[in-house]
Amino acid sequence: MKKLEIIIRPGKLDDLRELLEVCEYHGIMITNIMGYGNQKGVTDQHMWRGVVPKSGNTIPKLKVECVVTAEESEPIIRKVCREIRTGVYGDGKIFITDVADIVRIRTGERGKDAL
Ligand SMILES: Nc1ncnc2c1ncn2[C@@H]1O[C@H](COP(=O)(O)OP(=O)(O)OP(=O)(O)O)[C@@H](O)[C@H]1O
Ligand SMILES: [Mg+2]
Repeated sequence: MKKLEIIIRPGKLDDLRELLEVCEYHGIMITNIMGYGNQKGVTDQHMWRGVVPKSGNTIPKLKVECVVTAEESEPIIRKVCREIRTGVYGDGKIFITDVADIVRIRTGERGKDAL
């Protein structure tokens, strides 16, 4: 099983959720985050105005987490890259980690059964 932490622009949430529904996702966690990537928080708007903000200007993004089977993960990743991309800096990232086990607390089910 894989955990996908999909960092997106806030305005892309509806598009992403549609896409994850197609993939029959099992559950979802959505968190408002602040952060910066390679550009250290410099936005296009700053560039137009000729302003160079101090390093580490944070920008709001959403973190959407879903745990899926290993087979489900690659098609989701491909769809996210195809559908969510605008081609502009700040489109986001997907962090992918292996999930060792899951427990459904109500039933005690483990692993894929608990997905
Ligand atoms: N290495 C990282 N570790 C933790 N969070 C990160 C990392 N890279 C990016 N993020 C988070 O993802 C958000 C979006 O990153 P972003 O899309 O700007 O990545 P990037 O590597 O700068 O790519 P691009 O050049 O396309 O902008 C950031 O605001 C930050 O919250
Ligand atoms: Mg960036």
